[in-house]
Amino acid sequence: MEVIIKPDRAAATLLVARLVDRELRANPSLVLGLATGRTMEALYAELVRMHHEDGLDFSLCRTFNLDEYEGLAPDDPNSYRHFMHRHLFSKINIDRRNTHLPDGMARDLDAECARYEALIADCGGIDLQILGIGVAGHIGFNEPLSALRSRTREKALSPLTLKQNAALFSDPVQMPTRGITMGVGTILDSHSCILLALGRDKAAIVARAVEGPITSMVSASALQLHAKCRVIVDEEAASALEGQAYYRWIFDNEPEWDAFR
Ligand code: GLP
Repeated sequence: MEVIIKPDRAAATLLVARLVDRELRANPSLVLGLATGRTMEALYAELVRMHHEDGLDFSLCRTFNLDEYEGLAPDDPNSYRHFMHRHLFSKINIDRRNTHLPDGMARDLDAECARYEALIADCGGIDLQILGIGVAGHIGFNEPLSALRSRTREKALSPLTLKQNAALFSDPVQMPTRGITMGVGTILDSHSCILLALGRDKAAIVARAVEGPITSMVSASALQLHAKCRVIVDEEAASALEGQAYYRWIFDNEPEWDAFR
């Protein structure tokens, strides 16, 4: 794991966008894992800008989102499919047939989860997975006690997640209480991943995920097992980390980061 601390939200978000840009230019048919949530909105805005102003080309890119609510149609304003359409897919030159999210309306949810796993495997696995972190420590909707080897499946959302995400629903009682999510094991199988966490609200959970024990109570802590995981945070989200000086030293001295300092 590598932890990179940037001065503010904009700088942390820009670094993630530049890393996506680098991967996509190196491999135009990149299999990109995507996330939702407020943290991702500025990242997608930056990728849209890069598409329009710098010619970043998504025409061959394939995407898999981490999760979707159960029971929300793709055109429901609160569905993650709709979120992705609004913030990214409708604003770049991606082929809609290459954009994948679990189908929260599927009649047979177990079959849908198996289909999603098979589709990821057919594409050769996820090259770069983008992740946010929920205040419950989840990645995707892998709520506390999610097995570290879990695969795509349906999950009940935890009370903390229901509280955190209800704010995004105009009528919070309409928020689904279940979702389909890639498993922790699915995420760990990605070839590389980046977790972006911003703001003081995330400081405590970022510290538990990065410096605490690996535990299914904090599914993001499983990323310590990932062979190529970057955690990119702003000063506020980094504020509870004990190893800040060390992480900064690595970033300042690793030749890999020369172009990104
Ligand atoms: C949702 C998503 C997660 C995301 C989290 C963070 O719960 N299912 O994948 O990490 O939101 O949300 P925010 O960026 O709004 O803090």
